[in-house]
Amino acid sequence: MFENIHFIKSAYNHDELPASGLPQLILCGRSNVGKSSIINSLFNKKNLAKTSSTPGKTRSINFYNVDDVFFIVDLPGFGYAKTSHAEREKWNELVSEYILTSKNIHHAFHIVDSRHKPTELDIQLKQWLEKANKNYSIILNKVDKLNQSEANKSVKEVLSVFPGLQLNEDIFLYSSVQGKWKRPILKKLSELFY
Ligand code: GTP
Ligand code: MG
Repeated sequence: MFENIHFIKSAYNHDELPASGLPQLILCGRSNVGKSSIINSLFNKKNLAKTSSTPGKTRSINFYNVDDVFFIVDLPGFGYAKTSHAEREKWNELVSEYILTSKNIHHAFHIVDSRHKPTELDIQLKQWLEKANKNYSIILNKVDKLNQSEANKSVKEVLSVFPGLQLNEDIFLYSSVQGKWKRPILKKLSELFY
């Protein structure tokens, strides 16, 4: 399980999406929260997904094949302020269209930076996922930056916006730089896809 992971392709518009019918896990959320880093760290691959300390790194929809069982789909982040309005609109449209129309999305990981409360953009994303009838989990990333009580507070803040989620079932603390948080997420993936 999770042994054979490789990049398939990048899509910059809807004509370029892969034809495969494999079920998909999408990674979505605001820019710079660590979506691409999570792919690399979960599967111990240093440079599989491109990451950057500058927000707005991922500009296409990127597909990764896992064991020929499912696709991981790394989406561009929302809310990168320094790009032009037109470009931001293009990304938002690419991502929202994808979420609303793709038939193969089996589950979404909505990534949130654990140091910050969910924002309007997170609520917007939640609404798209719910409108599209997609199951999702929240991953509170960058927990290495928090102490225990701050991590607890972060979970509480997310639960006030996403009521009913259960810790380690559909809300996870995570750090792309500390391997110790992986287990519950990998368990979730095995339940979802294997
Ligand atoms: P976009 O592609 O712009 O939407 O960003 P992204 O969400 O894919 O973020 P990316 O993985 O490129 O990471 C953004 C920055 O956060 C990089 O500098 C990463 O090294 C850093 N980062 C990611 N995850 C963690 C984490 O768990 N802890 C810490 N401390 N830094 C992290
Ligand atoms: Mg990225």
